[in-house]
Amino acid sequence: MASDSRNPGSEWAKGEESFFEPVKGSLASIVVLSLVGAASGVVPFIAIVELARTLLPALDGQPIDAGRVWGIVIIAVVALFVNVGTAFGAGAVGHFADARLQLSLRRRIVRHLQRLPLGWFDQRSSGTVRKLVESDVTALHQLVAHTIQEVLTAVAVPVISLVYLFVVQWQMALAALVPLIVTVLLYPVLMRGSAEKYRQYDEATSALAGATVEFVQGIAVVKRFGQLGRSHRRYRDETKRYVRFVGEWTAETAVAFTIIEIVTSPVVVLVWLLAAGLWLVNAGAAAPIDVLPGLLLGLGLTGPLMKLGASGQFLRNATNARKALSAFFALPPVPQTDAPRAPQGHDVALDAVSFGYDAEHPVLHEIGAACAPGTVTALVGASGSGKSTLAKLVPRFYDADAGRVAIGGADVREITGDGLYREVGFVFQDVQLLRASLRDNIRLTRPDASDDEVEAAARAAQIHARILRFPRGYDSVVGEDANLSGGEAQRVTIARALLADAPVLVLDEATAFADPDSEAAIQQALSTLAADRTVLVIAHRLHTITGADQILVLDDGRIVERGTHAELVAAGGGRFARMWADYQANHARSLPEGAAS
Ligand SMILES: Nc1ncnc2c1ncn2[C@@H]1O[C@H](COP(=O)(O)OP(=O)(O)OP(=O)(O)O)[C@@H](O)[C@H]1O
Ligand SMILES: [Mg+2]
Repeated sequence: MASDSRNPGSEWAKGEESFFEPVKGSLASIVVLSLVGAASGVVPFIAIVELARTLLPALDGQPIDAGRVWGIVIIAVVALFVNVGTAFGAGAVGHFADARLQLSLRRRIVRHLQRLPLGWFDQRSSGTVRKLVESDVTALHQLVAHTIQEVLTAVAVPVISLVYLFVVQWQMALAALVPLIVTVLLYPVLMRGSAEKYRQYDEATSALAGATVEFVQGIAVVKRFGQLGRSHRRYRDETKRYVRFVGEWTAETAVAFTIIEIVTSPVVVLVWLLAAGLWLVNAGAAAPIDVLPGLLLGLGLTGPLMKLGASGQFLRNATNARKALSAFFALPPVPQTDAPRAPQGHDVALDAVSFGYDAEHPVLHEIGAACAPGTVTALVGASGSGKSTLAKLVPRFYDADAGRVAIGGADVREITGDGLYREVGFVFQDVQLLRASLRDNIRLTRPDASDDEVEAAARAAQIHARILRFPRGYDSVVGEDANLSGGEAQRVTIARALLADAPVLVLDEATAFADPDSEAAIQQALSTLAADRTVLVIAHRLHTITGADQILVLDDGRIVERGTHAELVAAGGGRFARMWADYQANHARSLPEGAAS
């Protein structure tokens, strides 16, 4: 990160043309090899014609020019080898180039991911990232490794053949052009409105995929609440829509498609060329031998062109992938400071902070607060009042639109990325564990931590005993042989934060998961975690924060009250006093003893 900070955005500012920069040389070689390959593919046919020309006089008893015959045979054989060799060469160069391109793109994706604001990941499923790294990069693979060569061959073979035909017998060349022209004229009919059609096709496909996933994933909920009919109906409707769309599209293009198929089929082309040749010979316009090139080469004109249809689909995918990747690389990274500052101390200051996820919907309005080192600040407020949003500004998931968030006097925007993560630990509502061993999950931020340290952190987070109950203990892999409840997962992230030992802690309680036992365990873990740190905690259960040094009451993105629990309750009639009264009424029976003092 440090070296990047001097040169922010150099990566993403580069245009998409730089995609192929690392493989430019290889692409040029593929072009040359494909063209040489196409030419060498035509040569054996020309050789057959020339051979016939040389051998025919023998029928009339004239001597044969043996040297010329051998010369032609050798040229034909060499051309065959060149043809095979260039095809192999282009394929090999293409695949090596493709491997390099994929590596460079994937590295670039990872580098760019590292620089995006953490908030970006909040709003996106891992599916988005996976699509970039897998599907989109693979679409480019098809382009580099196969499509360039296919397209060049499909165009070069007919062009070279036609040039030769026009040189030897222009009338036959014209006849050979006819199937090609019919194809070229009908193709636009086939493709009419195809951009729009393809868009609709993609839309129908993803709608169907969405409905299928929804149907399958939601099946438990749906069954439970008797909504099977509704979800199933959407799946059925999407399937019908898809089938209808594909049916209509096929019907619209069927006639043009069939005509092209017929006109370009080898039998029809051969009959057509034979007829044309016979007519030319009868009319005295051509010698029989001059008809031969037209027959041989004319047959091979439309085949490669038809292959372009399939290549077109790959080109479309590659273009879409390129757009998706460009859009991704164009996402502005977190601005890095030119003059990094280290925090002096561990107090957190919020200074007239305003923020919105988008310009139209401000979420936080001029929030001001100071959290002294070693104190606990609790954020309370209704759901949607902006608590989690405010908490996420401290580890810089997002940057404030106005005002500043400072730690130890340094604006979080002036602290280096690494410095900030050393300074701020966080446990958020949406706990995410990696598909790795529990041990590695806990020491994620401190990979060098010893097993003893990991265990000590897990003990303090009240999760050690639970981990030992898994068959492989700390080596159990999350999602494989370690399945954790929401509360347990959160305690694992608490252990992680404990081990990371950052002086500032931001905690967003996930009490939604908690049963009384696990809530008590989480509370105990949190109080261990809070000792001697600057803590910003979002509390949903008010009795857990009666001892907080200050409580900030948020309403619609504004701080409407602040003070200690005792002060706020004593103030009477205020929002917190009301919340507390409600809370006590609702939770009186489930409160731990002594908490409701
Ligand atoms: N990633 C996001 N993109 C756009 N808007 C968001 C995003 N996250 C939250 N919001 C909006 O910002 C507002 C504040 O949300 P926030 O999650 O901060 O509330 P909260 O106080 O933490 O609520 P809760 O108690 O339910 O966790 C809400 O109106 C919410 O819809
Ligand atoms: Mg929240």
